[in-house]
Amino acid sequence: MYKIFFNLVFKRMDPEKAHYLAFRWIRLAVRVPVLRTFVAAALAPRHKELRTEAFGLRMHGPFGLAAGFDKNAVAIDGMSMLGFDHVEIGTVTGEPQPGNPKRRLFRLVADRALINRMGFNNDGSLAVAARLATREPVFRTVVGVNIGKTKVVPEEEAVGDYVKSAERLAPYADYLVVNVSSPNTPGLRNLQATEALRPLLAAVREAADRTVAHRRVPLLVKIAPDLADEDVDAVADLAVELGLDGIIATNTTIARDGLGLRSAPSLVKETGGLSGAPLKERSLEVLRRLYARVGDRITLVGVGGVETAEDAWQRILAGATLVQGYSAFIYEGPFWSRAVHKGLAARLRTSPYATLADAVGADVRKSA
Ligand SMILES: Cc1cc2nc3c(=O)[nH]c(=O)nc-3n(C[C@H](O)[C@H](O)[C@H](O)COP(=O)(O)O)c2cc1C
Repeated sequence: MYKIFFNLVFKRMDPEKAHYLAFRWIRLAVRVPVLRTFVAAALAPRHKELRTEAFGLRMHGPFGLAAGFDKNAVAIDGMSMLGFDHVEIGTVTGEPQPGNPKRRLFRLVADRALINRMGFNNDGSLAVAARLATREPVFRTVVGVNIGKTKVVPEEEAVGDYVKSAERLAPYADYLVVNVSSPNTPGLRNLQATEALRPLLAAVREAADRTVAHRRVPLLVKIAPDLADEDVDAVADLAVELGLDGIIATNTTIARDGLGLRSAPSLVKETGGLSGAPLKERSLEVLRRLYARVGDRITLVGVGGVETAEDAWQRILAGATLVQGYSAFIYEGPFWSRAVHKGLAARLRTSPYATLADAVGADVRKSA
């Protein structure tokens, strides 16, 4: 049904316009009490065996919405209604910014992929914090807040920009993510080098602790799939050293070669981050590597090319406690999250593991 609609309507529209149209419908639907109750009841994860705990937060299921879809925290309840059990908002930057000139989002339908160079278009940390402060949640959803660097802020002042966002947003964040891996802000990914990452993460940790006294806000870092293996190890070691709560692997890739892309070369060569199916293999590989390095000391979140319940299951076996997705939502539609949670529950039942937590990293432990 959705696929027919996608082919007839969304596919013919500019991808960014289609995004905002779908977004508007979701936000409207959630304002109608009968409708939202009905949709949420149909789509929310309700399999007892999927109950998950990650960095001290209890969730109904492990599958959530990756950052970038709801950059400004305007559709948390809407996405929760559609069955995403956690919603990561952002990336939010210290200052508001328009992002890159349009067109900046491209669909590679033949590859079930997207290329984006949005460039962190967002309302800025002050406005998003005000929105979160006055939000009256309809559903109980875990809200992650993903922060990044304002484009015009020079690299040497990046720490101050992240700290500003952390101070404003940490009070409303169930968990906080330092994004140093988007390819569309010049220089951002240089912050993944441990010499730059150590002071950045330490400063954000300090800012979160200073502004939120009554609880410890879990802090995660989100990394790129394009890191060399030894750099993945270095981030893993640093995360352990700093007592970080989690690592999110991965963001989009700047790679194009060797991914077997079938879309028109004119599309493939658009600059920006590639997401969706072609990212699957590398993302999984990075996750496995991280788990082999950190084991259960740090919670891992698997994202990148997850399309099916089987993909999500593979992430769990590779070490992910939580799994996220974005691109496949565009291709699969509103029942996607439900399908993933339902399939995961079925997969767990036929597995040798009693709980989801037992399955986390099982494949990596087996091959160690
Ligand atoms: C249009 C678009 C915008 C995105 N914006 C952000 C962002 O602002 N911050 C971020 O950390 N990741 C962002 N991402 C990356 C996703 O969160 C995710 O890491 C990536 O798309 C891989 O997952 P997927 O293959 O399921 O899409 C964006 C992805 C897309 C497609």
